[in-house]
Amino acid sequence: MDLACGAGQNAVYLAERGWSVVAIDFSPVALERAASLAASRNVPVHRAELGALPADWSGVLLVEADLESAPLPAASFDLILCFQYLDREAFGRIESTLRRGGYLVYETFAESQKAHAEGPHDPSHLLRTGELRAAFPRLEVFFYRECETPRAVASLLARRPM
Ligand SMILES: C[S@@+](CC[C@H](N)C(=O)[O-])C[C@H]1O[C@@H](n2cnc3c(N)ncnc32)[C@H](O)[C@@H]1O
Repeated sequence: MDLACGAGQNAVYLAERGWSVVAIDFSPVALERAASLAASRNVPVHRAELGALPADWSGVLLVEADLESAPLPAASFDLILCFQYLDREAFGRIESTLRRGGYLVYETFAESQKAHAEGPHDPSHLLRTGELRAAFPRLEVFFYRECETPRAVASLLARRPM
């Protein structure tokens, strides 16, 4: 599952490598761009409601939903990506939607991005020091970093224990 998938480059990348991907965004424009990208790479593309996901599909399944309120299905995904999106209230739901043994890859902007001209400067969109590492207490952390350049980001690879 790719959370806040935007134009779909990560979802399509995974689908090209054989994953069946749910790509969620609340922007119809972003989802339309993701659909075009998938079609241009010959990746099958489908649409669904979050509450009525099919049991099986190939390619990318586009879902229009607001992640601030969307009830993510419990223990349903082997891999979750979240890039350049931060909603602290969703951390618990993201953790719970991983299957046992499933992986979370999360990377988004950190507070020191404020020193850069580009990117978000609103604190609600910026991770505090150490915040991402501690955000998913039920997961085992395999990799964590905070870096300042070329963009200030924190990155996490973690797994839900078996
Ligand atoms: C900076 S883009 C990142 C897109 C993609 N993850 C990437 O790394 O290229 C942020 C995306 O989050 C989406 N977004 C923001 N708030 C959202 C929400 N509450 N629910 C779902 N999507 C949201 C936006 O529509 C946008 O596509």
